[in-house]
Amino acid sequence: MWLNMSFKKASYAALVVVCLCLTVSCKFPTLDHLKPKASDKTQARAVSGLLRRLLGNRSTEFIVSVNRSLSNDSLDVCELRSAKNNKIVATGSTGVALASGIYNYLKYFCNCHVSWSGKQLEVPSPLPQLTGVLRINTPHRFRYYQNVCTVSYSFVWWDWPRWEKEIDWMALNGINLPLAFTGQEAVWQEVYRSLGLNESELEDFFSGPAFLAWNRMANMDKFGGPLPQSWHVNQLYLQFKILERMRAFGMIPVLPAFSGNIPQGILR
Ligand SMILES: *[C@@H]1O[C@H](CO)[C@@H](O)[C@H](O)[C@H]1NC(C)=O
Ligand SMILES: *[C@@H]1O[C@H](CO)[C@@H](O)[C@H](O)[C@H]1NC(C)=O
Ligand SMILES: *[C@@H]1O[C@H](CO)[C@@H](O)[C@H](O)[C@H]1NC(C)=O
Ligand SMILES: *[C@@H]1O[C@H](CO)[C@@H](O)[C@H](O)[C@H]1NC(C)=O
Repeated sequence: MWLNMSFKKASYAALVVVCLCLTVSCKFPTLDHLKPKASDKTQARAVSGLLRRLLGNRSTEFIVSVNRSLSNDSLDVCELRSAKNNKIVATGSTGVALASGIYNYLKYFCNCHVSWSGKQLEVPSPLPQLTGVLRINTPHRFRYYQNVCTVSYSFVWWDWPRWEKEIDWMALNGINLPLAFTGQEAVWQEVYRSLGLNESELEDFFSGPAFLAWNRMANMDKFGGPLPQSWHVNQLYLQFKILERMRAFGMIPVLPAFSGNIPQGILR
């Protein structure tokens, strides 16, 4: 079994390397195509929503906008200044830049904190003043987040309200390249059905929800499965919401590709 696994992993690695080389040399000589697709307005609206969830009615003390021209080198930047009525005016080059710029102000000027296990959001009133422009920038174009196994350890049990919190946390912390692996089995089962596999062959393939990561990585088939149709449908719709929100913030979700693991039934 171990040999089989190693072999599968080796062929998988080879496939990835081949695909990567083809992709890089032919289609995308640079990474310039990787940028937010949502409009500046949509991204600003996503951040307004985040601030309402985070700060309730205090969110109206922040006047936010996104202006992609603020950055002339693809590196995220956010500028904050104090305005009349103790308001804070913030402009980011993307939604993520804006959210993380405001979080920087909340942390270092208001002593606030947002974490997985609790938050401190007693924002001083009035808001602390800024003298001049507070400019928050980063030397890193891509800030990646997540591990393919965490998807099965933790996220597999999450509903939309929990995902919404996590995506808010990502935006606050400047993540712009998040892994988005939810619901891929719903697509794979359609692919395998269209290739002529039947239901029992699919049931012998997909593992249960807590083991999907290892099925995707070609380490195991079927264990803890099969997956009911209701699971596929729910996960697919959850993924639509996750992607819509990530993209609204100006993030670039990392979607699954073909890992190389195939059902036994494909031999038939
Ligand atoms: C803002 O919300 C808090 C609690 O959520 C409430 O106590 C307060 O009265 C509200 N203030 C205004 C101006 O609406
Ligand atoms: C966006 O930023 C650029 C560069 O700073 C500026 O010239 C332009 O007026 C800004 N656009 C808006 C709508 O504020
Ligand atoms: C834009 O580019 C110019 C020239 O390279 C540089 O001096 C300036 O600081 C840059 N502005 C921003 C906002 O990055
Ligand atoms: C799927 O095909 C296999 C191989 O022909 C067969 O043994 C199995 O009974 C089929 N299952 C269904 C649900 O048709």
